[in-house]
Amino acid sequence: MSAQKVALVTGSANGIGKSIVEQLAQDGFAVVINDLELNREKAEAFAEELRQKGHTASVKFADVSDFDQVKEMVESLDRLDVMVANAAVVAPVDFITDDHINGWQKTFDVNVKGHLLCYKFAANKMIAQGWGGRIIGASSIVGRKPEPGRMTYTATKWAIRGLTQTAAYELGKHGITVNCYAPGLINSEIAQQYMASSPQAAEMMNQVIKSSAVGRIGEPEDVAALVSFLASEKSGFITGQTVSIDGGIVYT
Ligand SMILES: NC(=O)c1ccc[n+]([C@@H]2O[C@H](COP(=O)([O-])OP(=O)(O)OC[C@H]3O[C@@H](n4cnc5c(N)ncnc54)[C@H](O)[C@@H]3O)[C@@H](O)[C@H]2O)c1
Repeated sequence: MSAQKVALVTGSANGIGKSIVEQLAQDGFAVVINDLELNREKAEAFAEELRQKGHTASVKFADVSDFDQVKEMVESLDRLDVMVANAAVVAPVDFITDDHINGWQKTFDVNVKGHLLCYKFAANKMIAQGWGGRIIGASSIVGRKPEPGRMTYTATKWAIRGLTQTAAYELGKHGITVNCYAPGLINSEIAQQYMASSPQAAEMMNQVIKSSAVGRIGEPEDVAALVSFLASEKSGFITGQTVSIDGGIVYT
């Protein structure tokens, strides 16, 4: 078994996940990039770019909502020290008064079941290794405060907080901490697509930026810096937490 610690980041061919991988590689981890097969070219080019810089990087394609694919991905690793369950999808704008529901099943499958499977197989691998580990998930500012028109996505991000707290409670005795980050608006593809999806969505997002203390959109690197700390040895007394990283919007 390699002496180098291994970190797996799901949904990391793009956006926040990509920045997290870059940061963890700089922190000295051998990084494993996960994404969907449809992002093969991007993921492989990213891994190659990291290797050119002298980092250890590989790619595992798996759909995080698929039990067997996540199991196989995690079990195939030489070792696992940090699991970052970052992959998610956004649901279309949906209001409680709409006469339809769009995207419920897919959003729950990827965001909630995806987190559960990543937490589960990472935990089993870390327990078998016997030296603890760090499990980190991705909630959102909407997991802390409501935003109109985001019923389904919001429900998944609250669910991730529940999974994180329960897993933290169960896994503490194994030296495994479980936390999640709750970003405000971060300048990534998912956010750009959402803002472009309708004038209502763009207006809502502009309101979010205006309401923050620092008055700017966050960058993926902001989130990566937080994950770097949560993934480190130094964060060992923090578990079960949802850490806001939103430029000063949510204060509890
Ligand atoms: N960008 C924001 O403003 C923001 C705010 C709050 C929370 N978040 C959360 O942060 C995380 C990262 O967001 P982002 O903005 O970088 O998103 P993104 O859309 O840019 O990247 C998400 C990645 O996940 C991958 N993915 C989607 N479904 C997958 C699946 N089933 N299996 C494996 N990979 C899959 C996508 O291919 C993509 O590469 C998400 O959990 C998101 O909900 C983002």
